[in-house]
Amino acid sequence: MARIAYVNGRYGPLSDAAVHVEDRGFQFADGVYEVWAVMDGKLADSDGHFERLFRSLGELRIRAPMSRPALKQVLRETIRRNRLREGLLYLQITRGAARRDHAFPAPEVEPTVVITAKPVDFDRLDRNAKAGVRVITQPDIRWGRCDIKTVGLLPNALAKQAAKEAGAAEAWLVDAEGFVTEGSSTNAWIIDAEGRLRTRDTGANILRGVTRKALMELARECQIEVIEQPFTVAEAKAAKEAFFTAASAFLTPVTAIDGEPIGDGRPGPVTLRLRDLYTQRARAGASS
Ligand code: PDD
Repeated sequence: MARIAYVNGRYGPLSDAAVHVEDRGFQFADGVYEVWAVMDGKLADSDGHFERLFRSLGELRIRAPMSRPALKQVLRETIRRNRLREGLLYLQITRGAARRDHAFPAPEVEPTVVITAKPVDFDRLDRNAKAGVRVITQPDIRWGRCDIKTVGLLPNALAKQAAKEAGAAEAWLVDAEGFVTEGSSTNAWIIDAEGRLRTRDTGANILRGVTRKALMELARECQIEVIEQPFTVAEAKAAKEAFFTAASAFLTPVTAIDGEPIGDGRPGPVTLRLRDLYTQRARAGASS
């Protein structure tokens, strides 16, 4: 079936979908995005992604193109027209198209809105994830506002490519002090020597992952201690378990970092249990 994209009020074949060549998303990465997992045709962790989207828009002073219920309706319609049951929904909003000038267009222009849908075989993803994946480390060379989910992802793309070329699934980014910040498109976690679930605090320059937040709540319900405390690469390599989270990855066990095995080199039991609980919970809570 041909994939359908939404662009500025119109649904049409993805192959014909286009935006203006002077769109500020294209020229300045002046835009934000969100990615939802779609389960049984419904949006997983729906509210968390909407909240972060509107926060990102506010931080960049990009006018919201429509209300949250209207936007939800367009997302729903994109899912319906793509007959998407399982996959990912991508939404991008930029400041719009205007004659090239670094400063914001004055008067304001209409924001550009693009939505695409991509089917993903979650069963296959699950089988791969449960076998565990490898990550490498890379220096974190991103800008200082990684809390805003902008489309300025060049350092992330370079890090992911380095991972791919090294036969790994993800790159964990490391700050100047030697602490892991997050993955190129995921949040990074370990289960430390004390059995605590540990991830970087959001005071650091990282994205406030929606999956991260949902998992923290879930872990606490399971009486697993969660701490937001930086860890070094050496601590990660010595951890009992390691994994990463994202809407596109759920919880994915990490079995090696820079070629060094984590624990016994197999996905850890706590990680696998939390992955199952998280995916069940996300599916049950997904909303149309
Ligand atoms: N990435 N950190 C970064 C840098 C990310 O790009 C993402 C998400 C995450 C996880 O956030 P969440 O749990 O809200 O998906 C953390 C999306 C999936 C992407 O860029 O495709």
